[in-house]
Amino acid sequence: MLNTDVQDIEPHENAEIVVTGKGGVGKSTVAAHLAGRSAAEGVPTLLVCITGQEDDDFGITKNGRGEHPEGESVLDGEGLYRAVHDRGPLRPIRGVRPNLDVVPGGNAVGRVQQLLTLRQMEEGLGVYQSLAYSLSLIGHRYGRIILDGAPENDALEQLALGAARRLWIPTRSDESSILGIKRIAKNFHIVRKRGINSRLELGGAFLYGSNPSATSIHAMVREEVLEILGPNARMLSTVVGYREKPAMLARKRGLLFGELAELLPTSPKSYDVAAGRAKDSDVIPEASVKLAGDMMALTTEIFEAITKAQD
Ligand SMILES: Nc1ncnc2c1ncn2[C@@H]1O[C@H](COP(=O)(O)OP(=O)(O)OP(=O)(O)O)[C@@H](O)[C@H]1O
Ligand SMILES: [Mg+2]
Repeated sequence: MLNTDVQDIEPHENAEIVVTGKGGVGKSTVAAHLAGRSAAEGVPTLLVCITGQEDDDFGITKNGRGEHPEGESVLDGEGLYRAVHDRGPLRPIRGVRPNLDVVPGGNAVGRVQQLLTLRQMEEGLGVYQSLAYSLSLIGHRYGRIILDGAPENDALEQLALGAARRLWIPTRSDESSILGIKRIAKNFHIVRKRGINSRLELGGAFLYGSNPSATSIHAMVREEVLEILGPNARMLSTVVGYREKPAMLARKRGLLFGELAELLPTSPKSYDVAAGRAKDSDVIPEASVKLAGDMMALTTEIFEAITKAQD
């Protein structure tokens, strides 16, 4: 059923969204790495975080990276809120890495949700196209746009899905992650059927943060996922392992996994900690190399699937 409240807004042809209807499964981590990889390969890239907290995976606040736009602060989700509220362009923080701009998430995203509820009464489903519209005003600057999920909320999920071309769904192996896939699948269908974004496609789903050798569990999860998404859905083969310490350290330092792994050769070792020459948090764990490799494999698989889908 097409709705007359909606306009025909074409999402950027390389706008990928990483989202599922469950928190803490790795959405922001994967989105940051897709954006970082794309930028590192020379593609002007924009990361838009529709998230309730600012994870600062690129060290914007912690390390003062990037050039803030003039005027009011865009940190803590304020830039996202302002663009949706004013029906204006997003104002990213520029050059967080070479070729990479970021619209940070944060607290104000909660106000975006309230705004959508309020406006929906008058404007109908078109409100869920607000982000797509704000993005369309600056999309020409970028070769790729990565959207980082949305908190577990239907309105925000639909807003985010309204702005993307392909949906990538991370999942862990637990039951509530599977329920999360059901939620995002429901919103995926709503967004397409109601014309909020009829061009949205399912990119694929993937297991994230799991023991790579737990292959029988992975097979079970894959089966469940395909039951929800349909037998023709793409289930990626890469499983990024669960490696808590390097993942935590990378975020703490505002570094991508590969950037953290590069510090390993010059990092203090545990014997330096024992000798009182370094702190435990200064030691880069060996596992950071494996984690970086897993993430490289995942982003490669996703980008290859995108190229195939566009052929
Ligand atoms: N491979 C990994 N192994 C272990 N922990 C990880 C891994 N990748 C990310 N993490 C950690 O898991 C937590 C959740 O990751 P992340 O923030 O990316 O998930 P999310 O789905 O975006 O969460 P939210 O719903 O809160 O936005 C973070 O603390 C992150 O540092
Ligand atoms: Mg997140």
